[in-house]
Amino acid sequence: MEPQTSKRVNSFPPSGIRRIFELASRPDVISLAIGEPDYDTPGHICAAAKEALDRGETHYSSNLGTAQLREALARRFAEESGVSVDPNREIIVTIGGTEALYLSMAAVLDAGDEVLIPDPGFMAYNSQVHLVDGVPLPYPLRIEKGFYPDPDEMERMVTPRTKMLLINSPGNPTGQLIPRDVLDGLAGLAERHNLIVISDEVYNSIVYDGLESVSFASLPGMKERTITINSFSKIYAMTGWRLGYAIAHPNLIDGMNKVHQVVAACAPTMLQSASAYALRADQGFVREMVSEYQARRDMVTDLLNRVPGFRCIKPEGAFYAFPDIRGTGMKDFDLCEYLLLEAKVGAVPGNVFGSRGEGHVRVCYATSRDKLQEAGERMAKAMAKRGL
Ligand SMILES: Cc1ncc(COP(=O)(O)O)c(C=O)c1O
Repeated sequence: MEPQTSKRVNSFPPSGIRRIFELASRPDVISLAIGEPDYDTPGHICAAAKEALDRGETHYSSNLGTAQLREALARRFAEESGVSVDPNREIIVTIGGTEALYLSMAAVLDAGDEVLIPDPGFMAYNSQVHLVDGVPLPYPLRIEKGFYPDPDEMERMVTPRTKMLLINSPGNPTGQLIPRDVLDGLAGLAERHNLIVISDEVYNSIVYDGLESVSFASLPGMKERTITINSFSKIYAMTGWRLGYAIAHPNLIDGMNKVHQVVAACAPTMLQSASAYALRADQGFVREMVSEYQARRDMVTDLLNRVPGFRCIKPEGAFYAFPDIRGTGMKDFDLCEYLLLEAKVGAVPGNVFGSRGEGHVRVCYATSRDKLQEAGERMAKAMAKRGL
């Protein structure tokens, strides 16, 4: 007997970037594929985790997370967004932003409920909607419109089964920050159709040129219907720690906690202590890292625009560029394979992020300037070889 997996699990594809990651992890390849900071977690945060272990913080915490961390998160959220939340009822600490996203869907959606998700967008959105028997409604983000959502177009997609709207700003893979007037349009849409909004703000501290990331929950009337998702992964270079959180109405947090209790129980206690410390410690590391990313963003946009057949707009946040590669005449998968073999550079095919990502590739510039320079030159040479 060959064991078989469920129809639900078979209803979405495995991560399309696995093959690219495997090829890109060869030592002679410069990988711009993986979406994580090249920085290690700062030493003072690691030291705080070691101290927590030495204090014996090796037990379960409250399912919602330690009171100390939830209080620190409520303070941070109020400072950043002006929205005050009750740390005892409106925050849950999770295993990365990834679990927080899943809990949101599991708590809100019934089978057949529709969710507006960005296309292109972070891969987990589509798969997670399938995992709870929901139906994804991918809304297009087009380079011609700066990769911003179009609320009017989205309104035409809404049906009586549409229950949720998911937004991500700054966005993966586009790097774009949704402007205030578009956020207002999305708030109107949510209100008119009584949608719960998941606002994925995991890149909210990585924005450039003095722009500011606005929390969706801070828009008039939006706090009650918004689930804000955030994480320690990107801001503190803590991807391997797996710590994230959600902020939402107590009814929704209760529902999310019911699921969290049976799939994770709680986030690692000693890491929660260190994360609370990360929030109150000096933030100089974050400022330096973001200013370095901004310099790399400038550099990589120029380099990509010099690759024959590529066109790249300057991203406003996160650490991704998403050039249009239609000028090369190649499909995104073929192009990525060619770049790997010919230029020894790893990038991610755009259509991994949804069908509207076709004609683009994602380049992560969370890597050293030397490597970015070398990768840009190698890509330009490889494309020139094709007579472009
Ligand atoms: C848009 C977006 N949301 C959420 C996550 C999840 O991050 P984590 O689970 O590490 O907190 C990622 C990770 O790449 C992401 O790009």
